Amino acid sequence: MTKAKKLFIKTYGCQMNVYDSERMAEALGAEGYSQTDDQSQADMVLLNTCHIREKAAEKVYSDIGRLRAFKQENPNLKIAVAGCVAQAEGAEIMRRMPLVDLVVGPQAYHRLPDMMRRVDQGERAIDTDFPPEDKFDHLPKIRAKAAPTAFLTVQEGCDKFCAFCVVPYTRGAEVSRPPARLLSEARALVDRGVRDITLLGQNVNAYHGEGPDGAWGLARLIRELAKIDELARIRYTTSHPNDMQDDLIAAHGDVPQLMPYLHLPVQSGSDRILKAMNRKHTARMYLTLVDRIRAVRPDILLSGDFIVGFPGETDADFEATLDLVRQVNYGMAYSFKYSARPGTPAADRAPVAAEIADSRLQRLQALVTEQQRACQTAMIGREVNVLYEKPGRMPGQMSGKSDHLHAVHVQDTDGKPGDMVRVQIIEASTNSLAGRLI
Ligand code: 5AD
Ligand code: SF4
Repeated sequence: MTKAKKLFIKTYGCQMNVYDSERMAEALGAEGYSQTDDQSQADMVLLNTCHIREKAAEKVYSDIGRLRAFKQENPNLKIAVAGCVAQAEGAEIMRRMPLVDLVVGPQAYHRLPDMMRRVDQGERAIDTDFPPEDKFDHLPKIRAKAAPTAFLTVQEGCDKFCAFCVVPYTRGAEVSRPPARLLSEARALVDRGVRDITLLGQNVNAYHGEGPDGAWGLARLIRELAKIDELARIRYTTSHPNDMQDDLIAAHGDVPQLMPYLHLPVQSGSDRILKAMNRKHTARMYLTLVDRIRAVRPDILLSGDFIVGFPGETDADFEATLDLVRQVNYGMAYSFKYSARPGTPAADRAPVAAEIADSRLQRLQALVTEQQRACQTAMIGREVNVLYEKPGRMPGQMSGKSDHLHAVHVQDTDGKPGDMVRVQIIEASTNSLAGRLI
């Protein structure tokens, strides 16, 4: 009997990559690969990469370099590069890195088993096509590891072309999956114990899946998902402000399963910079939108993304960003120093001096951290629902997420993953809350 082959996957970047890594593991599982957490045991190492900022992309090359020693020790070791670096720089990876056996772009994952067969015969394989067929129709049906939370990709790609962003090039044009498919996958997930589903898309609220009676928007999809018994929580990410339609805002007010957490990146608070970024909205439009969402769901926790040091950003532009952050009061936010990405419109524009961008990043992060802390501290004394995901770090503890996506740990010797419990928050630390069973 041949021994089962072992697959080690390293996932970089966003949640969609996490989802894709699971799908690729399933596709390769059908080829006899079982997953391992120990890279030294692997017959195949798959790097599912991210190209969003320079640092993320560079890390991939250093990680490939580090695999050289393993390949010398085990010449049968197969090395595969997937994801957005594969899409953007696949040919270059093949040229510069002879130890890489396989390069596959995000829209060609369903061809992975075929490619592996060629690799097993000693070939090197590359596929960075955007094939017309839907890869999800050709991947094995979701097996879903036993877990109470799951991602579900409903939409992929982006047509917005923000001037800094590689996504429209690496993930391609915006495509929505049909609602019937998504509803049946969601039901299958729930049948396997999933109680919290996060709908994924690079531009998820632009969702427009073709149903039997015309195109469905995200709000309609959410309303249908909410009819699935036992599906306690629905979330979605990432949204563009310009695609927050009235019916989606309304859903936040009247669909109890739709959780009070919304990731709504704005990138900058300066209209001049927003224009240069090709965001097609102003700071005022964003603030008005925030008010409308809070009007239907006052306790919603808003999270955001910011870029500092975008080409042309002045002190006054940056102050406008700080102002916007103060007005919105985020529960959570991610801020990044602008990183020029080859092939994007902003890549040739004169950069802001690195020291200036660094100091702006520090100031913004300090403000955001202050808001995050205040938001966590304000939870003390409140009663919240927690969906247990795994045992906590201390004996007898369980940990999970609140409706607002705060990590909460609870002393509960009888708890198990998948339980939904009611707790009172008794303590807030930097990264998590402590709750007591009610
Ligand atoms: N430089 C810095 N940050 C970027 N992002 C996207 N492209 C870049 C870039 N070139 C950030 C945006 C986006 C998040 C996923 O990454 O804030 O919302
Ligand atoms: Fe990139 Fe998001 Fe802009 Fe699309 S909307 S180009 S994914 S930042």
